[in-house]
Amino acid sequence: MVIEKAYAKINLFLNIIARRSDGYHDIESLMHSVSLHDVIKIEVKKHDTLRINVKTNAPELSDEKNNLVYIAAQKYAARYSVTDEILISLEKNIPIGAGLGGGSSDAAATLRALNKIYKKGSSDELLELAATVGSDVPFCLDGGTAHCLGRGEIIKPIGVKEKMFFALAIGEERISTPKAFCALDNRYVTYPNMSSVCRDMICALSRGQSISDCVYNIFEEITDISSVSKIKENMIQRKAECALMSGSGPSVFGIFKTKADAEAAVKTLSDAGFCAYYSESVASHDINLD
Ligand code: C5P
Repeated sequence: MVIEKAYAKINLFLNIIARRSDGYHDIESLMHSVSLHDVIKIEVKKHDTLRINVKTNAPELSDEKNNLVYIAAQKYAARYSVTDEILISLEKNIPIGAGLGGGSSDAAATLRALNKIYKKGSSDELLELAATVGSDVPFCLDGGTAHCLGRGEIIKPIGVKEKMFFALAIGEERISTPKAFCALDNRYVTYPNMSSVCRDMICALSRGQSISDCVYNIFEEITDISSVSKIKENMIQRKAECALMSGSGPSVFGIFKTKADAEAAVKTLSDAGFCAYYSESVASHDINLD
């Protein structure tokens, strides 16, 4: 049996560059893996026709056709002519549809696990396969911290000198990602160029300096969810250096100087009724161990 941790991601920086003719958007993002994680266990049994079985503790994911773990396994099997019985167990801890990349990370962990078992794909092939599952899946294969362009699949790893400590909390309403992109298209003819801010962040991360002045998420402009503002205020009052929405929301992360400060903020947020988690930076070498 192969066991993989599928880590959540946050967007320390997220801007849209332009709408594309294929319905997607070119983005510029700094994605960062954090320690909150799901667990994927995969076992295979010799068989002459492919069978994929996914068991999960999350009832929302019981329809296999919409489960990115199932889709990733199906694509891997098709690409490498696997005909075994693939038994997958998914322990879900990352909130679903919150902007923390849980589904993408589960899909990436599935591809990593299957490739540990079958050893058929090169890293470039896996990246290509991952991009067909979802825009954030290629980043999640190696995780860590990366400057992401294109749909999100053009990935350049970034050095981070100091581990960061986070409180994560989830706002109360679900936001549809395609609708959020659409709302921004209605607002902008030309998207703002924020690349210099992103460059400043890359520089600060490599020097272990504070990134509070450079965090940015264009999706905050169209997020009209009072719980997101409440969480941000709550985090700032509890000593966060900064707080920002992740992805298209409704998750929010706060960055704290110490683990103790982040944990104290998580307690306050939980007491206030929010779903909240402590997390810290995870490096890419702790994710893709092969
Ligand atoms: O790639 P993924 O399936 O995660 O994307 C979900 C939806 O989000 C897409 O169908 C598209 O509407 C939107 N999207 C986008 N540009 C991106 C990523 C996602 O427009 N770079």
